[in-house]
Amino acid sequence: MKQALLSLVACAAVAGCTTAGVDVSDFDAIKEYTLKNDSGMVVKITNYGATITSIVVPDRDGNMADVALGYDNVEGYINAIDRPYFGAVVGRYGNRIAKGTFSIDGIEYELATNNGDNHLHGGNMGFDKVVWDAEPVEDGVKLSYLAKDGEEGYPGNLMLSVTYTLTDDNEIVMHYEATTDKATVVNVTNHTYFNLKGEGSGTINDHILQIHASKTTPVDEGLIPTGEMRDVAGTPFDFREPKVIGEDVDADNQQIEYGPGYDHNWVLDREGEGMELAATLYEPQSGRVLEVITEEPSLQFYGGNFLDGRLVGKSGKAYTYRSGLCLETQHAPDSPNHGGAEGWPSVILRPGEKYDTTTIYKFSAK
Ligand code: BGC
Repeated sequence: MKQALLSLVACAAVAGCTTAGVDVSDFDAIKEYTLKNDSGMVVKITNYGATITSIVVPDRDGNMADVALGYDNVEGYINAIDRPYFGAVVGRYGNRIAKGTFSIDGIEYELATNNGDNHLHGGNMGFDKVVWDAEPVEDGVKLSYLAKDGEEGYPGNLMLSVTYTLTDDNEIVMHYEATTDKATVVNVTNHTYFNLKGEGSGTINDHILQIHASKTTPVDEGLIPTGEMRDVAGTPFDFREPKVIGEDVDADNQQIEYGPGYDHNWVLDREGEGMELAATLYEPQSGRVLEVITEEPSLQFYGGNFLDGRLVGKSGKAYTYRSGLCLETQHAPDSPNHGGAEGWPSVILRPGEKYDTTTIYKFSAK
């Protein structure tokens, strides 16, 4: 295993570059790390947003392709229209919190609202838009960020790290750890958009997906969970057996209309508390397979419904409608307002406790 260090072009050095609310003095600190394993897989990670910028993996004939949507310079990430969170770590709370409010121990907190009336992926300056400290470790890189008490409305100084390592079995291991000095909520995840044919290769609706979950948490038109847990049996949400995504993606179904398409939380059928296979994605043309293995209780399958071709990625190809999908391991959206009910395990972290969770993206081909 080898690792190399490259620097991304700093925005400050580029004429006409918009910094979109980012502190320009941080740009010198932006780096990109390249991880290579003995099987030839190459993964790139930047400390801007703790973002996975590239995942190059072989198909069944050994042809390499980059299966992660994104950009080859940091300006792309900063200036992207509507900021789709390509490859980033999202938080302090990944996905939505209704009306941006929740209470802990009787104290109500008000978060930034950046998605209609709701809070999405940590707010206006979530973890995807800040520069993390970076430290190379064996076979990977450890990225750390101190989210200050009151940042985006959240209580508590949160010391968070994510350690990315690449194994010789073509696994990207993502290990998240956090502590706080005041009771807070935490739910971080990685927001990589995959297309197993290669980024910029058209729709993901031809991919075959299996999700090990018998229930979802239906949403209202603002994509806020209603609190119900609903069986997938007999619905477009049944991925218990491998199914082509396109089969039901436009089904006549109210939940699909709200997406529009897939943008929902599946409650995983877990056997215990350890690492378990949550989902398998297969692309028949290339033979590439992605397995998502996690300790988390839920999975957000987002089918790229808000991509519309306006964003042009690293190889110059437009990211068209549903041309990438995310498989975000997580606690259910809006959990801070569902306090520990079945399917909604607590997301509260208190002083003296440790947030510690791991998710793996494992690649192969068949
Ligand atoms: C959410 C989508 C949102 C997208 C942003 C996903 O995790 O579930 O609703 O639009 O992130 O790119």
